[in-house]
Amino acid sequence: MKRYHLTTFGCQMNEHDSEHMKGMLESLGYEEAHERAEADLILFNTCSIRESADSRFTAHLGEAKRLKREEPERIVGVGGCWAQSVKEEVFERFPFVDVAFGPGQVHKLAEFLTSESLSAQGYFEFEGFTGHLPARRARPYQGWLQISVGCNCACSYCIVPSTRGREVSRPTTELIAEAQAMAADGVKEVTLLGQNVNSYGRDLRPTRTSFAELLAMIDAIDGIERVRYTSPHPKDMREDVIRAHAELPSVCEHIHLPLQSGSSRILKAMRRTYDRQRYMDRVALIREYVPDAAITTDIIVGFPGETEDDFKQTLEVAEEVGYDGAFTFVFSARRGTEAAGITEGLVPHRVKVGRMERLVELVQRRAHERAQRFVGRTLEVLVEGPSRTDPEKLRGRTRHNKVVNFGGLAAPGELTMVDIAAASSQTLSGEESLLARACR
Ligand code: SAH
Ligand code: SF4
Ligand code: F3S
Repeated sequence: MKRYHLTTFGCQMNEHDSEHMKGMLESLGYEEAHERAEADLILFNTCSIRESADSRFTAHLGEAKRLKREEPERIVGVGGCWAQSVKEEVFERFPFVDVAFGPGQVHKLAEFLTSESLSAQGYFEFEGFTGHLPARRARPYQGWLQISVGCNCACSYCIVPSTRGREVSRPTTELIAEAQAMAADGVKEVTLLGQNVNSYGRDLRPTRTSFAELLAMIDAIDGIERVRYTSPHPKDMREDVIRAHAELPSVCEHIHLPLQSGSSRILKAMRRTYDRQRYMDRVALIREYVPDAAITTDIIVGFPGETEDDFKQTLEVAEEVGYDGAFTFVFSARRGTEAAGITEGLVPHRVKVGRMERLVELVQRRAHERAQRFVGRTLEVLVEGPSRTDPEKLRGRTRHNKVVNFGGLAAPGELTMVDIAAASSQTLSGEESLLARACR
């Protein structure tokens, strides 16, 4: 039996695509190898969002090159956003790569593997969603549902529109059927995926479905207990979507609302199409309808032209919102993007690092403060397995997407209730409630 080894970098989109790559390879008779050195097929699903993503991956590629030299009949395949972004030169720069494919071409991998072709092949046209391919889910009770691909935004720092193409929504009936099949398969938590999920459906013809309508249709499916989505764009965060969190039982009390910067001047240069005020209005609306919602975000520091005053505005917004968590990034110039061409007002590395430290300190302090509201409450937790820090304990997630380490007897995939005793900025801890134990 042939064996494959797949390494995944990047976002949930890639994790989702990788599950489908695995499912597809297994349906072709491949088996997963635990070590790269044992594999006949060495695969990478790549990301190019920041320079650090590129360098992490190219180090791995060096090992693949060595393994291929040792056993030339091995196949090396590179998929995903990095592959797409270097498509012109991939085979020239990396002659040991046999097959390269962009995010819209995962299915071509099967074609390549079953063809007689021995020459290097590249597949880069967007042709389809991976959703219809067989999947091998990492956790049987959690599933991804890719609702759209691509992005029609033009954020000046971002490589994604060039790697994932224009936005295309999947037909609603197809999504509902897929979610129903997942529920029948034991999936309890579904995460809707897209670069800009809340612009879903605008391109559908003849009938459009809005993102809020889609949420309601998925909520209505028996067996789906939790619905999450990532990422929404603040510009499309309409009242109907926010209300869905309050009104639909399965839609979780967590909203990821990427800020990027708190300065309207920088937001304009980033081409985010909202300003600080509009963003804060969205936050106020969330707090009005879903007062307890966890709000998380993405923030970039050191965008070209960011002054100390701009940065202070980011700190002000972070203080005011009180995020439950934030992903913070140092600006990284990406090939082909508008921001990579800016030569004035570049922020020195030392300044970027200093700002990052100040931001992280503030975000953590606020997240810690915010998390205290959970202490003393009994929260529903979806159990994921043993705790990473203490194998005697279990680990799971609340509807607010907080990780909980707790003592108890529940099995992975079960929904249980946990009495929360303590909270830090990152995790909660507690004990499975006696009532939940008694009901078992
Ligand atoms: N479509 C999503 C996710 C995009 S990538 C969204 O718009 O929210 C995830 C995050 O990476 C972005 O939100 C942004 O904060 C960060 N990011 C993207 N490009 C970047 C760059 N060139 N430098 C630093 N951070 C970047
Ligand atoms: Fe990139 Fe902006 Fe699209 Fe997100 S919305 S993927 S940051 S271009
Ligand atoms: Fe990376 Fe592509 Fe996702 S660049 S973050 S894998 S969309």
